[in-house]
Amino acid sequence: MGYACLLMPEPIPSTTFLKKYLIRVPEVFGDLTEDIVKGLSSSLETPLGKEYYLVQPGNPEDLRTSSVSKFIQWNLPVEHSWPCVPQKMEGFIEKAAQAIFRKFGSRDPQAILIGLLEPSASDPYYKKLASNLRGRTLQLFPALPVGDAESQEPGKATLFCLVGKEGLFCGMQTPREGNGFYPGGTKYISQNSPSAISRAGAKIAEALHYLKLYRPQPIEGSHWLELGASPGGMTSELLSKDYRVTAIDRAPLDKRLDGEKRLRFLQMDADGFDPGSKTRYAAILSDMNGDAEESIRLVAQLSKYLEVGGLAIFTLKATGVTTVTEAVELYERVIQKASMAGLELFARTHLTYNRREFTLFFEYRPPVS
Ligand SMILES: C[S@@+](CC[C@H](N)C(=O)[O-])C[C@H]1O[C@@H](n2cnc3c(N)ncnc32)[C@H](O)[C@@H]1O
Repeated sequence: MGYACLLMPEPIPSTTFLKKYLIRVPEVFGDLTEDIVKGLSSSLETPLGKEYYLVQPGNPEDLRTSSVSKFIQWNLPVEHSWPCVPQKMEGFIEKAAQAIFRKFGSRDPQAILIGLLEPSASDPYYKKLASNLRGRTLQLFPALPVGDAESQEPGKATLFCLVGKEGLFCGMQTPREGNGFYPGGTKYISQNSPSAISRAGAKIAEALHYLKLYRPQPIEGSHWLELGASPGGMTSELLSKDYRVTAIDRAPLDKRLDGEKRLRFLQMDADGFDPGSKTRYAAILSDMNGDAEESIRLVAQLSKYLEVGGLAIFTLKATGVTTVTEAVELYERVIQKASMAGLELFARTHLTYNRREFTLFFEYRPPVS
């Protein structure tokens, strides 16, 4: 498809209906994009913004289940597109909103959410474009059950659109299918607060938000075991949510965590940690660096101290991995080690502040003997 300006939204021929997808590949994996797209048996079309690509996968299920799908932060079936430069198009917002209504007006989305293909756009026109288009589109639709991203049901279809210098791309699917409550993925949580102990605080905040696609967050007062806690950004975030935390690291925690009543810190190697036979945690969080297989071995070793159905959140650090194949093989070995200890993978994603790493979510389901 070319991206010359079209006068009107482009109708998608019925034969290609639901075949094109917008995918988001995080910028940190940008050098692997070609191989990721090949792994989907897809051809790569023009990139949109810095992280989005329009692809035509051989089998759309591959976007969520194939071995390369872990590199895809978010996906959307493109059911309606208007490749154009909106700023140069007279009456873009009105025409785009009318076309969206014609296409999706009878499909009962639970919500309409519109985001930017390039969220860091500095041009004031593009900064406001998504919210202006959403505002006009909502006026055309009858009142929708859900007014904001946070109130969505993860299993009900939402109309998601992305808009930017390359045009408009829309489709309907559930937040769970797309892998996020927001257009483009999960919630952006700033890591720039002056009081933040480390950037990792925003990661666990985003991970807990993402978790709501699948299950509720652990209740207040739940006891977490945190491995690789220093300097304490994640610890501080867990404490702010009124959790109890047992934190382990070879290195010390930031002094600002001294005196925290709900925190017990042990400066030691996680390998020697013995929680005591009666202890049961609601969740384990591991952000240990070093060899990912060694880290999952330690998590697996401690998983028997989880409540049945308990949660494990694991940062799989693929630092040094240079190819898609290497990353896929490492991932498979990690999942396999976890599974042997009764940790069942139920979700995985790439969070905003993740570098070359994935965040994996497991539930403890030991075999019944
Ligand atoms: C990326 S940092 C963790 C950042 C932390 N989650 C935060 O929120 O600030 C990784 C940490 O894992 C710790 N670590 C790695 N392997 C460990 C082990 N076997 N036992 C204890 N700590 C370990 C390192 O000492 C390091 O402090």
